[in-house]
Amino acid sequence: MTTRPYVIDEMISAKSIAARIEALSREIAQEFADTEQLVVVGLLRGSFVFIADLVRELRLPVEVDFLEVSSYGNAMESSREVRILKDLRSAIEGRDVLVVEDIVDTGHTLSHVVRLLTSRNPRKLRTIALLDKPSRREADIKADWTGFEIPDEFVVGYGIDYAQANRNLPHIGKVRFTDGG
Ligand code: IMP
Repeated sequence: MTTRPYVIDEMISAKSIAARIEALSREIAQEFADTEQLVVVGLLRGSFVFIADLVRELRLPVEVDFLEVSSYGNAMESSREVRILKDLRSAIEGRDVLVVEDIVDTGHTLSHVVRLLTSRNPRKLRTIALLDKPSRREADIKADWTGFEIPDEFVVGYGIDYAQANRNLPHIGKVRFTDGG
């Protein structure tokens, strides 16, 4: 795929991410202290690195499942819907569920996923996002836990891609285009 020329400037270090995940894991463990087994649901593909680090910090019995949805829109961005590309393997009725998202941007994805999973009657459903861009929000939603609030920049790394590249960067970087466009 052709992309514009760009460089990546570090925005959040791997060390800061690790420290934040440790703190968030303690809060999540408290919230779900009485769980039999927490179903941690990663939204593919951007959350795969985050969920891997998060579950290894969680001092709780967990299972891991994945959901893949695709946003598609017509001309009206605000009427975006999401389509399920890969559904959960587990039934979540009566269970404790934590949805793990990489970035909440407009919020349409998380909002649709929460609506979808709530309709399956979990006992308790909570959400966590590594990054939040509040200035971009269109849907009325906020994750229960957020790693970092960031400005309206295009970011990559730590699982997050630009044209499928850069998911393997250990830190979060900001994409800066160098063609002046
Ligand atoms: P939302 O439905 O607009 O909140 O979209 C969230 C999804 O858009 C995220 O899960 C990402 O996959 C993608 N996204 C939003 N911002 C960025 C970014 O800065 N870099 C890469 N992907 C992004």
